[in-house]
Amino acid sequence: MIKPTETIVSLSHIDKSFPGVHALDDVSFELRAGEVMALLGENGAGKSTLMKILSGIHPRDGGDITIFGKPQGDYNTKKARAMGVAIIHQELNMCQHLTVAENIFLGRELTRSGVLAQSEMNKEAEKILGRLNIDIAPDLVVGDLAVSKQQMVEIAKALSCSAKILIMDEPTSALTAKEIDDLFRIIRSLRDEGCGIVYISHRLEEISQIADRATVMRDGRHIITRNLSDTSLKELISYMVGREIKEKFPRVACEKGKTILKVTNLNAGRMVRGINLSLAAGEIVGIAGLMGAGRTEVTRAICGADPKDGGELIVDGKKINVNSPEDSIRAGVVLVPEDRKRHGLCVKLSIRENIALPNLDELSGALGYVNPKKETAMVDKAVKDLRIKLSTAEANVDSLSGGNQQKVVVSKWLARNSRVVIFDEPTRGIDVAAKVEIYHLMNQLKRQGVGVLFVSSEMPEILGIADRIIVMCDGRITGELPIEEATQEKIMDYATRFESKATA
Ligand SMILES: Nc1ncnc2c1ncn2[C@@H]1O[C@H](COP(=O)(O)OP(=O)(O)OP(=O)(O)O)[C@@H](O)[C@H]1O
Ligand SMILES: [Mg+2]
Repeated sequence: MIKPTETIVSLSHIDKSFPGVHALDDVSFELRAGEVMALLGENGAGKSTLMKILSGIHPRDGGDITIFGKPQGDYNTKKARAMGVAIIHQELNMCQHLTVAENIFLGRELTRSGVLAQSEMNKEAEKILGRLNIDIAPDLVVGDLAVSKQQMVEIAKALSCSAKILIMDEPTSALTAKEIDDLFRIIRSLRDEGCGIVYISHRLEEISQIADRATVMRDGRHIITRNLSDTSLKELISYMVGREIKEKFPRVACEKGKTILKVTNLNAGRMVRGINLSLAAGEIVGIAGLMGAGRTEVTRAICGADPKDGGELIVDGKKINVNSPEDSIRAGVVLVPEDRKRHGLCVKLSIRENIALPNLDELSGALGYVNPKKETAMVDKAVKDLRIKLSTAEANVDSLSGGNQQKVVVSKWLARNSRVVIFDEPTRGIDVAAKVEIYHLMNQLKRQGVGVLFVSSEMPEILGIADRIIVMCDGRITGELPIEEATQEKIMDYATRFESKATA
């Protein structure tokens, strides 16, 4: 039996380097039974690396690991699992072509007389999912599920191993409000059963809701550990960034120009129904709505990533035909997509190649060769503008911390001279300070007379940055608010205007 408040994990003086990066420098960390410990820090601070060491994924270069009082010498994922450590990764780690149940039982499949016991696994998986209150059939193929559903499967998978030490690396970045409530309910009940939970998130409002203590890291070092009851979020933020953030939502005023994008009667599939919208040069328009309202689908249909069933696009007064992303890019309309791993990055290519790839037309000369000078300048500028934390631009993009990968996705599109830039959840997984950098970039585009359209699930961000807000529900636009009139309540009201099933 674990005593509450007993220290169950003790990491002391942990050291870890990757080529060119000292990721962890003499970091000590403790976790008690029956607590939720928030692990905070800017992108690249070393949070995921520390937790990968605790779960045996990375070997440590130095320091000691003690779990349930037992010093761990050689340590690996198998030992970690045997000690009751489970991790929910920041990046989705599902096998896309396997079913939900197969993913949950991956590596420890149930068998009967040496044969996979498919129906038993399905039944077991159904039980686990039921406990989480998630309505997903265990025999569905994971690749066909929305990101939020995949994330819930990942959580179910970790919970199915009856972990005593549960690490959640940004578990809510793709979840709906209801799913987050369910998850918090589960976290609290696991905590009451005596589990120790490490909770990593850049959504600081979640931290005050769920965490008992917080540890802050900066530049690979441990800065402080505090009880949430005797500290404020403001104080934690200042420890994270090492300075005070003056303005969380910098807003710039600029003259609104001519209409730059006009979308009329756009239809695509079930989630894009009769969309009419316009965007002016030098204007930032936010698209609000609940998860599943069709916001991503609208951005994809506009940019030709999904086929349209009808509708007209006018850019700079000219009607354009967009049947593919290439058509869209040529017309000066670019999309910075939501799911960076699937649509945003080539994970096996370097940071340089990722930034250069969509810009080869601008980087190459008459003979079609890339001008390396131009390329280097473009990459350097992107790295500097967004403060991407890297050792060298030649490194694989998947060696970057999660938030820094997101910055690469954003930067590769900003390097172009576009007329309209559409962002889908641009600040997901990005730390407080870097969020401000992204807002500055949006403002910079606005000043240059670009039209900016952005989808966001973070209400304060929409209210803080947009000049005008469009609200969607059920694939339709249900409301539009100039910023002066917008409030959270009004947005929620429009976001929940579901059509009654009878008329649908
Ligand atoms: N496999 C790897 N190879 C090379 N460098 C790595 C690798 N994993 C992490 N790093 C580097 O180690 C540092 C810490 O990264 P880590 O992923 O732990 O940050 P993080 O705090 O989790 O950030 P985020 O909030 O963005 O997820 C970063 O500079 C990162 O680029
Ligand atoms: Mg991380």
